[in-house]
Amino acid sequence: MAMTRRYLLRTGWKLGGGLLALAAGWTSWELLRPLATAGASGKIALGSPANFKPGTATFVNQGRLWVSNADGHLFALSQKCPHLGCRVPFCESSGRFECPCHGSVFDIAGEWITGPSPRGMDQHPLTVENDVLVVDTSKRINGPDHGAANFLTAPLGPACAGNG
Ligand code: FES
Repeated sequence: MAMTRRYLLRTGWKLGGGLLALAAGWTSWELLRPLATAGASGKIALGSPANFKPGTATFVNQGRLWVSNADGHLFALSQKCPHLGCRVPFCESSGRFECPCHGSVFDIAGEWITGPSPRGMDQHPLTVENDVLVVDTSKRINGPDHGAANFLTAPLGPACAGNG
């Protein structure tokens, strides 16, 4: 009888431990597995590169980013300001990105012009696959350092937010 009780207790502990390990493993897997939406590696097809004309900035809501064309060079610029994360709109009248929060201004290529932002607007890699422009939002590249002025031009007109 004592052997039976000991056997049952031992078997019960083993079963409980096994179930606990299974639950812990399952929880870890649920926490660490890549999300299904990330399986496509965050790529968004944007259509023909020809749709993005020089001097324009097009907002892509799905990626929360701007696709801009600076003198024939295409950029995918994060909408999130590198300063404190406000959404940066494009100002049609000035042809620049103007952050409404603290006044950072960027040229159409996302290069820093003025304000407290520590760098230019962050970017996502762009590729052309079968004549389709594709942005990879799973990768982010820090914006250019202050002083980069490869695409800086005079403002087209008045600023939108009174940022200068
Ligand atoms: S969040 Fe854009 S300048 Fe501060």
